[in-house]
Amino acid sequence: MNRFNLWFGLSVATVLAAGFFILTFERPPVETVQSGYRGVALEQNYNPRQLNRLVAAQRVPEALEAADAEGPRASEIYENVRVLGHLSVEQFGRIMQAMTAWIYPEDERDPENTGCNACHVGGNFAAEGNYRKTVARRMLQMVQTINTTYANHIQDVGVTCYTCHRGQAVPAQVWAQRPANAEGSRNWQVAGEQNRPIAATAYSTLPSDPFTPYLLRNEQIRVISNTARQTDSDRSIAQTEWTYSLMMHFSQSLGVNCTFCHNSRSFAVWETSPPQRVTAWHGINMVRAINNEYIEPLRGEFPPHRLGPMGDTLKVNCATCHQGVYQPLFGTPMLRDYPELNPPPRRASLD
Ligand code: HEC
Ligand code: HEC
Ligand code: HEC
Ligand code: HEC
Repeated sequence: MNRFNLWFGLSVATVLAAGFFILTFERPPVETVQSGYRGVALEQNYNPRQLNRLVAAQRVPEALEAADAEGPRASEIYENVRVLGHLSVEQFGRIMQAMTAWIYPEDERDPENTGCNACHVGGNFAAEGNYRKTVARRMLQMVQTINTTYANHIQDVGVTCYTCHRGQAVPAQVWAQRPANAEGSRNWQVAGEQNRPIAATAYSTLPSDPFTPYLLRNEQIRVISNTARQTDSDRSIAQTEWTYSLMMHFSQSLGVNCTFCHNSRSFAVWETSPPQRVTAWHGINMVRAINNEYIEPLRGEFPPHRLGPMGDTLKVNCATCHQGVYQPLFGTPMLRDYPELNPPPRRASLD
């Protein structure tokens, strides 16, 4: 009897241990690449098998045939164009086709919500009354702003609708506020709780909404004191946890370690941080602008079922573009194939 129990117990323990290893660790090989000076342990780990999967998911669709930029302007031919009027008619048609493929690829089973009809009232391209057309117009302006104002983040790679949408109406990685699951336990009143692990912060038991304070509001991310035994710091442990939660999101979204942007000798010091940290800093400002100036103001346009549980819009974080890699679409430039997305050339001033 005892003997049976012993073997039974041992086999259960073995199965559990095996399960722990299989489910918790990644199967080797894990390769390491140095990304800083020798000896400072600035390195990135990756698994070649995972990399193949990522490469397959980050493929850029083939560009449509280029359009003739000459000929009458869209504003002269069409009735109701407010953003794309500077394009030639051929370019205008090309960008309509591209947007359709990037966001609402034609699906025979759902002709109402895919293809040109997704944004247009059937039979009348000039009509308003479909919220998606209104949203698309604003998104066109958003893309123009990203590509001009935030070149310090996106370099000359640029952004198209595809960078976020990838063939779907709603990008795969977005965030919205969620109801708090407890009251009164926090000094710093922002949404998001601990012990509610989510993929966007790498399943850490840190606060699950670092986005409201940092990617919507302008809360201060810096928490480390500059002097020993600083007594006048207004940074709390709670705030520090929010900062670390945001940092987990950065690493998770880009598929990198903390050392992609920091020299872990000191997380605060900029002089010894890799240049990527500065790019990331511009990225924070860009995401705040996207959410505050473009997406949240569209709240009233969306039908209620398209909003989050607290009634706010589905917003952008680092993963919306990056989707697991340090350069979206592995840095493949896509904007240069779509000059239609550039803002209208400025008119020469008269003086
Ligand atoms: C993602 C949404 C979206 C999709 C999909 C879309 N359009 Fe549009 N379309 C717009 C927007 C936004 C405008 C207005 C542009 C502006 O104000 O500059 C517009 C305007 C037009 C106009 C000008 C109408 C006028 O007289 O004012 C035509 C024509 C048009 N689209 C054709 C198409 C065709 C054809 C397709 C399918 C191949 C298509 N669109 C798919 C968003 C879309
Ligand atoms: C930086 C990321 C990003 C880029 C780039 C982007 N979008 Fe979006 N788009 C979003 C997010 C996030 C939503 C969801 C907003 C919501 O649901 O509250 C969205 C929603 C939309 C919707 C509404 C979807 C629906 O069916 O309800 C349309 C239409 C749209 N985008 C058009 C465009 C067009 C056209 C472009 C390119 C000119 C573009 N987007 C570029 C992030 C982006
Ligand atoms: C993609 C780049 C990036 C990655 C990856 C990243 N960080 Fe950061 N981190 C930043 C930036 C940018 C700031 C500064 C934000 C600011 O000043 O507004 C920062 C700030 C911090 C701070 C606050 C520093 C201070 O001055 O108080 C800490 C702590 C920190 N990061 C820790 C981490 C940890 C731990 C990780 C890994 C889990 C990590 N970071 C991953 C970019 C990154
Ligand atoms: C609108 C899309 C978009 C969003 C949102 C976005 N990025 Fe980026 N990011 C890009 C593009 C495009 C590049 C340029 C890639 C290249 O140079 O090939 C880039 C580059 C970077 C780089 C430099 C990578 C390198 O290899 O040098 C870092 C770091 C980075 N992003 C961090 C962030 C962080 C952190 C956030 C969130 C706060 C963020 N990004 C949000 C589009 C985006």
